[in-house]
Amino acid sequence: MKVLVIGGGGREHALVWKIAQSPLVDKIWCAPGNPGIAQLAECVDIAVDDLDGLLAFAQKTGIDLTVVGPELPLTLGIVDRFREAGLDIFGPTKAAAQLEGSKGFSKDLMARYNIPTAAYRRFDNHADAVAYIREQGAPIVVKADGLAAGKGVIVAMDVETAVRAVDDIMLDKVFGAAGAEVVIEEFMDGEEASFFAFTDGRNILPLASSQDHKRVFDNDEGLNTGGMGAYSPAPVVTDALHDEIVETIVRPTIAGMAADGHPYSGILYVGLMIKDGRPRVVEYNARFGDPEAQPLLARMKEDIVPILQACARGNLTRTSLEWHDKAAVCVVMASGGYPGSYEKGHPISGLEEAAKLDDLVVFHAGTAEKDGKIVNVGGRVLGVTGLGPDVASAIRKAYEGVAKISWQDVHFRRDIGAKALKRKG
Ligand code: AMP
Ligand code: GLY
Repeated sequence: MKVLVIGGGGREHALVWKIAQSPLVDKIWCAPGNPGIAQLAECVDIAVDDLDGLLAFAQKTGIDLTVVGPELPLTLGIVDRFREAGLDIFGPTKAAAQLEGSKGFSKDLMARYNIPTAAYRRFDNHADAVAYIREQGAPIVVKADGLAAGKGVIVAMDVETAVRAVDDIMLDKVFGAAGAEVVIEEFMDGEEASFFAFTDGRNILPLASSQDHKRVFDNDEGLNTGGMGAYSPAPVVTDALHDEIVETIVRPTIAGMAADGHPYSGILYVGLMIKDGRPRVVEYNARFGDPEAQPLLARMKEDIVPILQACARGNLTRTSLEWHDKAAVCVVMASGGYPGSYEKGHPISGLEEAAKLDDLVVFHAGTAEKDGKIVNVGGRVLGVTGLGPDVASAIRKAYEGVAKISWQDVHFRRDIGAKALKRKG
């Protein structure tokens, strides 16, 4: 089989790494890929939003299965384009990807099917939005409706911050067209977790639990990022909670999307807030999480390729997955200054040393090759992923890898996975 993976981050490196282990696969291409991925796949320089270029490449190369990593090509309709051309592709259609692409769409779906989430209102008018915030009071959450590169959510602890967020989004249009509408919702407190399920549009295959670390500094301080580290399994998701999430959230979401005429296939990412043992939806994403994919795929025991293919073709019959008994922890090594501005082009040392360690994989995200050296070019640069018999050992293994690797101004959190240990007592 010939497989094409679209994307070039840590999530896509993990996907390529896992797909490369399949005996069904002859060759993998990745667009655009990165230097880590280039060790396992042929990287082709086509941008993730160049749908014409990607389709032409897949047809010319005779690709049997395309796997989409990031949300942008999904919301642009890459799945519709490939399917019209008769090609197998893993991911939701443009209509189904609205679950991530429009907060208003996803909130209305949850309301229609009684899926637990924060109370909300949608506004396309600035004055009404401000009046509603003043009436509700703080804390309150303001969300730009469309995709805003992870920056469109403002958790406001006071009314003035919330009003300013609405001004920025609706008057100053800081997120452009993504802010033509806003969702204003109830603030939820609790512990966040990420839940994933493969689906072919009707049947679902849940993954193991995982947890991300969104804030840039230790103890969840500082700005929100794309994710500074993740681990699996996450003890906050007990077996009973896992079942409750599947029955009260994942199943009604997939059934609701199908009933509404846009069946959702691919992987469904549910961001959850857990309070007093009860899950509520914070948001949906139409793709694998990054960095959650790194520890999850490191733990997945079986061949992922038949599962991806079954989701793409609408014939998913499996109902449970096998996992390695080991826990996995991914520590993101980032450029100093991220999620703000940062310097690029510093050579990274220690990658060969880290590669010698057992039970450790270093996934590349924002790296490039310059004059024969690997340098940092993105905010999140590497995902150092360790495995161990339990979370504590996996944490030690990941940080053993991190200790070998360095570049100027490198930044990483030192407490990835600590929440899991606290919970276990
Ligand atoms: P999102 O871009 O929707 O993932 O939101 C980013 C982050 O904002 C989430 O991971 C939560 O930490 C936070 N957040 C979003 N909605 C709420 C809410 N209703 N209550 C509390 N925190 C929220
Ligand atoms: N880890 C957060 C995300 O993938 O959106």
